[in-house]
Amino acid sequence: MTVETVQSAPIEGQKPGTSGLRKKTRIFMQPHYLENFVQSIFNAIGGAAGKRFVVGGDGRYFNKEAIQTILRMAAANGAHEVLVGTEGLLSTPAASHLIRLNKTNGGIILSASHNPGGIDEDFGVKFNTPNGGPAPEAVTARMFEASKVLDSYVTLSTPDLDLGTPGKLRLGDMVVRVVDPVSDYRDLMAKLFDFEAMRGLLAGGFTLCFDAMHAVTGPYAKTILEGDLGAPEGSVINAVPLPDFGGGHPDPNPIWAKPLMDLMMSGDAPDFGAASDGDGDRNMIVGRGAYVTPSDSLAVLAANAHLAPGYADGLAGVARSMPTSGAADRVADALGIASFETPTGWKFFGNLLDAGKATICGEESAGTGSDHVREKDGLWAVLLWLNILAVRKQSVAEILDDHWTRYGRNYYSRHDFEAVPSDKAHQLMDRLAGMLADLPGQTFGELTVSKADEFSYLDPVDGSSSHNQGLRIWFDGGARAVLRLSGTGTEGATIRVYFEQYQDAPSGASTEAVLRPLREAVLTLGAFEHIVGRTTPGVVT
Ligand code: G1P
Ligand code: ZN
Repeated sequence: MTVETVQSAPIEGQKPGTSGLRKKTRIFMQPHYLENFVQSIFNAIGGAAGKRFVVGGDGRYFNKEAIQTILRMAAANGAHEVLVGTEGLLSTPAASHLIRLNKTNGGIILSASHNPGGIDEDFGVKFNTPNGGPAPEAVTARMFEASKVLDSYVTLSTPDLDLGTPGKLRLGDMVVRVVDPVSDYRDLMAKLFDFEAMRGLLAGGFTLCFDAMHAVTGPYAKTILEGDLGAPEGSVINAVPLPDFGGGHPDPNPIWAKPLMDLMMSGDAPDFGAASDGDGDRNMIVGRGAYVTPSDSLAVLAANAHLAPGYADGLAGVARSMPTSGAADRVADALGIASFETPTGWKFFGNLLDAGKATICGEESAGTGSDHVREKDGLWAVLLWLNILAVRKQSVAEILDDHWTRYGRNYYSRHDFEAVPSDKAHQLMDRLAGMLADLPGQTFGELTVSKADEFSYLDPVDGSSSHNQGLRIWFDGGARAVLRLSGTGTEGATIRVYFEQYQDAPSGASTEAVLRPLREAVLTLGAFEHIVGRTTPGVVT
């Protein structure tokens, strides 16, 4: 087998963001684009020779072709073995598990997560390190540096491999092990959770609807929820992964999973509803008539995790991303365990999990997970909820009410201003950053600023620091707003504004009503109308 060296040249903009390199699919399909980035990954980790990797993706448009390219390049770079899911499918948490289980040198995951798929939609490539987690900033920075000096890459000219059935194949000197994407992950879930209690719950008439949104979790949810736990066939909907996710936006939130939300708020609602995203790491939890915000879900899971066998010994600590509400901190305080506040992006939890400082982590963006893998895990969150419901024998609404009575409630909402011209978005953020020092004491509408800063994080494990991680503004009376620019967008800039109001004794008013004074104060002090010409967000979650 002769290795081909292909002359190339640096391509601008191959800088990984919050979650790998994400671009429009057509950009990835340009000559050399994917190849350059994959070679940059290998170059950034000291080459691929003799190494073992996991490769898989969420099945979106271009997934299959990209996997064949990566396999050829891995073989040409001298890799010893690649594990790949059947048909190139692997959910992000399952890929993380396979990396850890097989002690590989890392993995390449193809996904643009919850962004739509298709030739005119989004694609992405992400490298996970041997601990199973997304590459930390030091590693992604090396990839970007490598991409800037790249002059060639190596590949083979071989026909596509048939990845349709599990088994062992060869590509040049490299072994390609095609594995069932579900089975190892399923075994891990069976160890963590009390499947018998959950089977009992479902046998007793408890009903559920899991919306896989035509994304990668379909086969996982079918096997576990309908197969292992005995939920009636049809409990998992939109279960077949499609390259364009059926034309939908595979993002499990009340906006994009609206059919499920409508069902859950209707007279025909099952007891429990859930959804997951494109690559299976996000989740939405909703009870009959009761939506659970991701921030509350993290807090409830932390407070009740000991009811599942995998967490029976209690938690070492709880970590949340900075914009996530402080609800989990209150649980950690009550449990007498540590709580951590990290920048946005799952990669910041890796060190805390590796060091045994945190057991459960979560982000307001529908991400929850634990130390069982090094990614957030949508189905894991669903199963932990079901395990808790099976033990407590209460409804989702009852569990939430009980939680708020005990800990108080953090009313919470995120507003996204998408596709803002990049210069305007930066102008708004820079202006606000410049004002922070003078804000305390100033009053906007009904609210007076008590404190304001720009978030920096000092990693307690490796001592690395990350700056410019978002603007935080606190107000008298328990309100907080956070503003930051998205690091995963593919067009223009997205300004995310996060609103939170704590009430010790929840008033029961709607989230919208509770947060209105805060929203008005922030829109005014941020000069949204003046700078971006918009005060109404495109998406509210
Ligand atoms: C978004 C979410 C963040 C999540 C990331 C990857 O990043 O806000 O919590 O980790 O997607 O799923 P952002 O676009 O805000 O940078
Ligand atoms: Zn995702």
